[in-house]
Amino acid sequence: MWQPPERIKHALPVMNWPSAEEAASSMLFSPIQVGPQSLSSRTWIPAMVPWRATSESMFTDDVIDWYARLAKGRPGAIVVEATGIRDVPSGPLMRAGQERFVPGLRRLPRAVKDASEGETKLFIQLIDFLQIRRRPPTEKFFSPFLHIRPEHREALAAQTEETGFETCDEAALRDHLATLSPEELASVLDERELDALLKGYRERVWDTHLDHIRELPQTLPGLFANAARHVLDAGFDGVELHYARAYAVASFLSALNNRADDYGGSPENRVRLPLEVLAEVRKVMPPDKLLGLRFLGDEVIEEGDRLDDAVFYAQKFAESGVDFLSVSKGREFEDAKVPKVGEAVYPFTGPSGYECMPSVYSDADGPFGRNVGLATAIKHTSSKAGHDVPVVTAGGIGTFEMAEGILQRGEADIICAARQCIADPDWFLKARLGKGESVRPCEYTNYCEGLDLKHKQVTCKLWDRKGLDEEGLPLDHSGRRRLTAPSWTP
Ligand SMILES: Cc1cc2nc3c(=O)[nH]c(=O)nc-3n(C[C@H](O)[C@H](O)[C@H](O)COP(=O)(O)O)c2cc1C
Ligand code: SF4
Repeated sequence: MWQPPERIKHALPVMNWPSAEEAASSMLFSPIQVGPQSLSSRTWIPAMVPWRATSESMFTDDVIDWYARLAKGRPGAIVVEATGIRDVPSGPLMRAGQERFVPGLRRLPRAVKDASEGETKLFIQLIDFLQIRRRPPTEKFFSPFLHIRPEHREALAAQTEETGFETCDEAALRDHLATLSPEELASVLDERELDALLKGYRERVWDTHLDHIRELPQTLPGLFANAARHVLDAGFDGVELHYARAYAVASFLSALNNRADDYGGSPENRVRLPLEVLAEVRKVMPPDKLLGLRFLGDEVIEEGDRLDDAVFYAQKFAESGVDFLSVSKGREFEDAKVPKVGEAVYPFTGPSGYECMPSVYSDADGPFGRNVGLATAIKHTSSKAGHDVPVVTAGGIGTFEMAEGILQRGEADIICAARQCIADPDWFLKARLGKGESVRPCEYTNYCEGLDLKHKQVTCKLWDRKGLDEEGLPLDHSGRRRLTAPSWTP
């Protein structure tokens, strides 16, 4: 994973835990109204893909075990991992676009209610993404993938001073291209072709020469609404629309989106489709269910959206009646590491990916609470404009003091913890019961993320080799790691 060049190793924050009485009077463990629902506390586990579904996206007992284990710590809410809305193969990424996924999905709310004794609300993150291919072998890219254009011939002729390239047959041209270095290719291929060669072909929402992309504004709202209908049928308490990273809807929001129709260019145009999706999904939401979204406070890429754009979008989302705004950071694809041939580009491997999931190897700012400022700016401008939409913040928050401080200072309304909840799913409960000293602190060195990167079942280095002799313990595909944290009894 990418690390800031300073590579300062930050010590974990000192943990001062509250007594049970202090916890009881804290903001963190007090209820909060979010849209039509009341959360029992301001603690929240954000979406995380743990790679537990089958390769056909079907439900497994391991999916249930994962969420039931998280629910034992009784967070106010859990958002189930990014779940696809279309019927396209997407490996073990869960899906909700078709009826056949509903029976599996239905098991989750029941399991979470049981494990949390009814305390935890369960939402699900709905995602759409465009086609992304693996990095091709060089020969394959030049034959047959690359569409040969006259500009290639001209550039090659100029580079080699051999006019023959302007007229030679295509096979000879392709053969020659395959022998060039990336530096030489940079003056022959355009930016997108070079990117496809080095990182694998990836569709963009501004590829409007492709019919299915041009028509996304007509198709996406209905696809999201259809998937939302399924998850509501399955008994979820609400839906979080995934408007973050470089996925489909986030890409409409991006400053990179230069579509020439009503859905690209100016911020007003870029937010149009995300608002239309929101409105269409709202139509299928019963009044007691919750509809929120996750979006980027900063894309952290060259020429990408900055906080100003996010603040503008937040106002628009608030005006259209969204129930919560969960703020994330980092677009993650444009600056991702070049993958090996045969592998797909992995989003968390560049500087913008680092910002989403910062590790202890950091710059002077360090990883802890690194992204709170984005949520704060969004919260303050929204509330100045008269909108009281709860704002959810994430990124390196794993202590009671830090979480409580953020709430007390009015910097955000709800606290997310992703990795700290993997490291110790009981930590919220332990803090609440005055047993904080038994919390297993996350080390923020991203072993879990390394597994995610390889699409392996996500576990934590602090517990995945512990108690492997427990009878009937489910293990990962390698047979060497347990899949859920050991149990804890107060
Ligand atoms: C294994 C793993 C999978 C993740 N998957 C998602 C996802 O599906 N959707 C999403 O919005 N964020 C995803 N994230 C990002 C987290 O929700 C969270 O924003 C990030 O880890 C920062 O929070 P933390 O510092 O508390 O870990 C994932 C994080 C991890 C560790
Ligand atoms: S493996 Fe465990 S300790 Fe390491 S970052 Fe992930 S959750 Fe934290």
